[in-house]
Amino acid sequence: MIPAKRIIVALDFATESQALALVERLDPTRCRLKVGKELFTRCGPAFVEVLQSRGFEVFLDLKFHDIPNTVAGACAAAADLGVWMVNLHISGGARMIEAARTRLDAVSTPPLLIGVTLLTSLSREDLGAVGCPGEPSERVLALAALGHAAGLDGVVCSPLEAAAVRAAQGPDFRLVTPGVRPAGAALGDQVRVMTPRDALAAGADDLVIGRPITAASDPLAALRAIEDSLMA
Ligand code: C5P
Repeated sequence: MIPAKRIIVALDFATESQALALVERLDPTRCRLKVGKELFTRCGPAFVEVLQSRGFEVFLDLKFHDIPNTVAGACAAAADLGVWMVNLHISGGARMIEAARTRLDAVSTPPLLIGVTLLTSLSREDLGAVGCPGEPSERVLALAALGHAAGLDGVVCSPLEAAAVRAAQGPDFRLVTPGVRPAGAALGDQVRVMTPRDALAAGADDLVIGRPITAASDPLAALRAIEDSLMA
């Protein structure tokens, strides 16, 4: 039996009205919502509160990366906003993650603290150019281990890396995977993708899915079709 709400719908819209037009067609018992930098910068925390007042759990995808004190304060602000999940870049280092963990541990119901391993948009060459030579997949595993030891609840990774991270970090470490496409769906700008079912089989807990749902003529039907593919 697949637990409910494995899908996080990415609200990648430029305006509140566009986002709300989709949200009105979704069911908070069936999915969660991701608010990223574009929508948050335009609409702010008030819009997150609107989503929460409609019963949705929100993943605040702002990928914090700064000195420990600043990131800890940002995570505390996210906790005050009442979001379900918040994230930071693991490359900000162990002390930054530990500072965030300490601040969240002081909150009665803290959001899940998730770390970005590597942006999937970075190639081997891109990484070499910023002084990080070597295999991206090895770097992902090393960053996941560092993040887990520093107190993260889980990581964002490609579904193609999920099995290796799951094997190394055990069953209780949360794996959040974008780059998910139902069979036959348009890839858009995603290159290295897996189907929702394969991503879960590889060990993913949460599937971040944008355009296959947000760009569908009937988003709720698209969501149901993906859920059905998970049960099949
Ligand atoms: O539309 P699509 O399903 O490609 O949306 C995927 C979402 O996941 C977007 O919000 C994108 O910013 C996010 N994401 C990603 N790859 C990462 C991290 C986040 O696609 N490595």
